[in-house]
This record gives sequence, structure tokens and C-alpha cells, in this order.
Amino acid sequence: MTQVPMTFPADLVRDAAARVGTPLYLFDAAALRRRVAALTEALPDVTFFYSLKANPNLSVVRTLVAAGTGTEVSSRLELETALAAGARPGQILMVGPGKPLEDLRRAVDLGIKAIVVEALEELDEIAALAVAAGRVQPVALRINPDFQVQGARLAMSGRATQFGIDQCDLPAAIERAEALPGLRLVGLHVYMGTRILSVDTLESNTRQVLELARAMAGQLRAPLEFVDVGGGFGVPYYDDETALDLAVVGQALRPLIEAFRGAHPQTRVAIELGR
Ligand SMILES: Cc1ncc(COP(=O)(O)O)c(C=O)c1O
Repeated sequence: MTQVPMTFPADLVRDAAARVGTPLYLFDAAALRRRVAALTEALPDVTFFYSLKANPNLSVVRTLVAAGTGTEVSSRLELETALAAGARPGQILMVGPGKPLEDLRRAVDLGIKAIVVEALEELDEIAALAVAAGRVQPVALRINPDFQVQGARLAMSGRATQFGIDQCDLPAAIERAEALPGLRLVGLHVYMGTRILSVDTLESNTRQVLELARAMAGQLRAPLEFVDVGGGFGVPYYDDETALDLAVVGQALRPLIEAFRGAHPQTRVAIELGR
């Protein structure tokens, strides 16, 4: 059976089905552009990254890149897709535990914006690749913080997980990232959880991650280029769930971000969003 999205006129769907056959997926590029515009209006001082794991369809990624978002990739295929979609290496973050050495090599050769390191050993691997290539690779540290936010449908912090470096190991990670040749420590990344539909939860998430960035800044030789506060902005899946109002999200997060930027003008705030 063909499922017809309500936003498309029936004749458009019929025409598409006649041309390419069924089953098919139709995506509304104008809706994607409107979403990027609404995010940018709500949070003008934030750099957005589209998380390809949500949907790596080339046309979807191309639309979002053309609308001005960066990309966050967590596999080799996603990396190549981001490039094919027009993302410049300087707009790509590579995230994810257990990255294959070949993927790290490709990222170093491209000189992507940052490889987000999820384990201390990864720093050594990237440093060796960068030195061999005669390059300096920007890296960010993904921290699994001690705190947890309430209200994420899937939490990824506050306990031991495969994601990120435990907060207690942060000083050691900074020391290692700054000491190794071929690396430049440019970012902090925290991803607390996904499917968050509460503005209060997003606010508390952002507040706590920026607090961590403030504390980290005191230990650094050079200021960070970015702190990625994750995101996890939810979309309603069920009848009893309500969509986030991005204008209200903006009102809640802007003061936190402005205060942080006032104290750390060289560090931009990034948010990575999939859904
Ligand atoms: C590290 C990371 N970034 C981004 C996302 C995308 O999250 P969302 O679809 O909630 O925006 C996920 C989802 O699991 C993730 O693990």
C-alpha cells in the first residue's frame, strides 16, 4: 500500500509514482529549508550541523548543505555522502565510537573541521596519521558528562557508555591532545540524548554543557573554536507528544549562549541535529 504524505498534493504523488514506481519516498525540500531558516532565526549565533544518521539521502543532505548547515558524519559512507552533497571539509565533523583507521586517514587527508574523539587511544591514532601526512588535524573531545538531563527519550550520559570520554578523564585527555604532535584541540562535544521535546530540558542541557566548557577553558593552552552542545531536538512521533516551538527554544537558549560568548568570544556554540 502506498502511504501518501499529507503535505503533498495527490496529483504530485501520483505523477512521481508513475515516473519512478513504488514504493517511493518524497521529501519536501521547501520544508527542510524552512526548518533551517527557523532554527537560524531562533538561534542566530549558533553553527548548525546536520547529523546524517537521521537520513543520509543525497538530495536531503544537498538541500541542507545548500541552506547553510554543516554536516556531522559517523561512517565513511556518510562522509563521502556529505562531500558529494557539496559540503566542504571545513564543514564536516566526524563523530562516533570505534572509527576505522581508514576512515580516520580519509578525514585527516581531507582536513575536516574536526574529528570528535570518543576515546583516549583515538588521539594517538589520529596524531600518527596526521604526522605521517605532514598535517595538523583539528580534534574535539566528546565527553560523557557526570550529569544527565531528565526528559531525553534516549539518554547517553550520566553513566558509563560507549559514547565519549568519561568526564573524570577530561584533564588527561586535554593533556594528551595538547602534547601529541599533529593535533590541534579545537572543540568540546557533548551529546546527552535524543528526542527531547521539553524546552526546560534543552535549556538545562545547554546550561550544563556550557558550564563544562567554561571549566575546561581554564585548563587549555588556546581557546576552543567550538563547543557542540549536542542537540537532540525531538519531533513528535505519537499523538500525546507536542512539537517544540523553535521561537520558545530560542528565547530559552539565547541568553545562555550570549553569556557564554561574552566570556569566550573565540568559541562558537554548535548544535547538531538529525530529526
Ligand atoms: C552524536 C549524535 N549526534 C546527533 C544525533 C542526532 O540526533 P537527533 O536526531 O535527536 O537530532 C545523534 C542521534 O543519536 C547522535 O548520537
